[in-house]
Amino acid sequence: MKRDLLTVNDFSREEIHALFERSATLKEERRKGIQHLPLKGKTLGMIFNKHSTRTRISFEAGMFELGGHALFLTGDQLQLNRGETIKDSARVLSRYLHGILIRTYDHDEVIALAEHATIPVINGLTDRNHPLQILADIFTIKEKLGRIEGVKVAYVGDGNNVAYSWMMGASLMGMHLVIACPESCRPAADSNLDKNAKVEIVDDPFDAVKKADIIYTDVWISMGDEKDAAIKKKHLLPYQINQKLVDAAKKDVMVMHCLPAHREMEITAEVLDSKRSIVFDQAENRLHVQKAILEKLLSPSRP
Ligand code: CP
Ligand code: NVA
Repeated sequence: MKRDLLTVNDFSREEIHALFERSATLKEERRKGIQHLPLKGKTLGMIFNKHSTRTRISFEAGMFELGGHALFLTGDQLQLNRGETIKDSARVLSRYLHGILIRTYDHDEVIALAEHATIPVINGLTDRNHPLQILADIFTIKEKLGRIEGVKVAYVGDGNNVAYSWMMGASLMGMHLVIACPESCRPAADSNLDKNAKVEIVDDPFDAVKKADIIYTDVWISMGDEKDAAIKKKHLLPYQINQKLVDAAKKDVMVMHCLPAHREMEITAEVLDSKRSIVFDQAENRLHVQKAILEKLLSPSRP
């Protein structure tokens, strides 16, 4: 049976641990120049209805490194955006490809694509979720701290798709997540959290960062949210990651941002470029974790 990755919850905790082991191996082998081509002859179709630097390029490079091919498809060049149904598109694409990556607005569109496709569908970001990001982020935390369970993450900023996937990821992996955001920017509540999940939402960013291992933020204005930009910026001003906030956390706290960053908005350049920042390791790990995901979903010999 084909497997999809639409939300973090599509994998079990055990599968994620195994995925991280594999990601570490792939990272190390890449460093040593060891070639590994399990996806020879396989093609991933990548539908992008929104901009991307990291997701697009790391998938394209990742497929190439695994011996496969990635096809970049922009929504406006597909019949899908001229009225061909998702169901018909899914059936046709399933005859040509071995997997589909999709970045779009409406999460339900991705659910429908997965339902009608006979090949794995990977969510490359929707208005609701960004599972690939959170999996790479948790891998990065494990790499830096040597542990996942019990790690305290303070997410400060907009309660968007990344915050929502963080709620799922933290819940699934036994982490302690505190989201600090204004009332108007809170993430959606119905996230299928584990009943023992340690996920809190607070108003005060200084409360959130107390004893945190990680301070995390994302853009204030996500793709598709441009119409609310002025009001969001106003409400989110006290939630900027700056030196004062970092100084209120543990001495060895690490700062993460999924990127792209808007310097002097959600994060100051001083913090982003400081030694506490691990944002570029985090960005690099998208490649390694996604290669392990591609192997798992597109190569039947991988458990
Ligand atoms: N973090 C992330 O998904 O980046 P892109 O939008 O550049 O893909
Ligand atoms: N929340 C951001 C993430 C970008 C990677 C957005 O959806 O635009």
